[in-house]
Amino acid sequence: MAEQSSKMEKLVSLCKRRGFIFPSSEIYGGLSSCWDYGPLGVDMKRNIKNAWWHTIVQSRDDVVGIDTSILMHPRVWEASGHISGFSDPLVECKKCNLRFRADELKEQKCTVCGSPLSEPRQFNLMFKTFMGPVEDAAAVVYMRPETAQGIFVNFENVMTSTRKKLPLGIAQQGKSFRNEITTGNLIFRSREFEQMELEFFVKPGTDMEWFDYWVNARLEWYKKLGIKPENLRLRPHPKEDLAHYARCCTDVEYHFPWNWGELEGIANRGDFDLKQHSKFSGKGLSYFDEDTKETIVPCVIEPSAGVDRSMLAFLADAYDEEQDKDEIRVVLRLHPMIAPVKVAVLPLSKKETLAPMARQIYSELRQIWATAYDDSQSIGRRYRRQDETGTPYCVTVDFQSLEDNAVTIRERDSMQQERVPVAELKALLAARLAL
Ligand code: GAP
Repeated sequence: MAEQSSKMEKLVSLCKRRGFIFPSSEIYGGLSSCWDYGPLGVDMKRNIKNAWWHTIVQSRDDVVGIDTSILMHPRVWEASGHISGFSDPLVECKKCNLRFRADELKEQKCTVCGSPLSEPRQFNLMFKTFMGPVEDAAAVVYMRPETAQGIFVNFENVMTSTRKKLPLGIAQQGKSFRNEITTGNLIFRSREFEQMELEFFVKPGTDMEWFDYWVNARLEWYKKLGIKPENLRLRPHPKEDLAHYARCCTDVEYHFPWNWGELEGIANRGDFDLKQHSKFSGKGLSYFDEDTKETIVPCVIEPSAGVDRSMLAFLADAYDEEQDKDEIRVVLRLHPMIAPVKVAVLPLSKKETLAPMARQIYSELRQIWATAYDDSQSIGRRYRRQDETGTPYCVTVDFQSLEDNAVTIRERDSMQQERVPVAELKALLAARLAL
């Protein structure tokens, strides 16, 4: 356990030091549970989102994408059940006024000062704000707590405009906001985060088959992108723990440094959402089945993932330390698809003689891949820096390169080096990176 918590501390420190993740508004002391993504973090996060989009939308005929607004009509949240039911039980310390989630406490007393706690009351997790210049009850709107509802309310628009048939998925990535009572573990649970959600509409009766399909497909996605299978598991929810909208639900969990935690939930939402929005909006949300000549309300299978949580899992899983001669090498063994930088070009010496050739190679490679250029400090230290940020390949230009027009490629995980003619460099990297 001590080893695991120190792994988390090391990861947090690496994220800050190397520009993956910074506390939000840090110069003002930070804002609790809000995070900023630095230069490497933003690229890594984008890579995760692109990998998801590629698998879920681009490579399938039966899924289309959408991007809906964060602020929605307040009635949406009445229909979805968020106004009445999206809450956690909150208790308050009678002495120091600290607040806790009642269902997360082992003992019913303040974990800081040991004093008695108030009776639990339900605390709604949605952030409220006002739309327009008047701050009264009629102007209240909510920051969306999930991207899913933007998909449900556009079901009719998408079906009509794409002329697609069932089964059809609608996918969306974007920010969601939850005023969580307890947060923590870096980006695992924050108040502003990003989701990647798919609502897959199917004919009733085929829903359980599709549910099983998506549970398996989502588990495999994480494995394919390099997460160790032993650190992943499926956790079916017991009936009594199901959300009000779900017929069944299974989480993909990851073995985080502190414990197992949810990465993604796959739910069979049945016809709950379309029926609720039909009822509250007065617009019939249904589908005419050409095969049976019947009008039906589709069922929905929802794989709902968190971008930030996935990123933390990819980082934690990739983090490794190994003895290399008389020092410890820190390496992020990220899948090339996820790694923020794919190649680093390193001239062996800062001498002007090597710069033109190294710069030329750099400018060609960066047209294809996220590429770094580093000419400061010893080559050993530069390799270490690239290892620490997960760069799969380093290309070293040395004095011999000027003679034989060849460079050295060094692979991150094995540290193996090989000499390659510059003319073959791009093809070789393309084959090795296999993006
Ligand atoms: N539409 C269904 C839905 O939103 P959820 O289980 O509440 O389901 C889905 O959220 C995913 O969103 C979670 O598995 C997690 O990855 C991510 N998520 C939820 N709350 C989060 C938070 N406070 N911080 C970071 N990620 C969060």
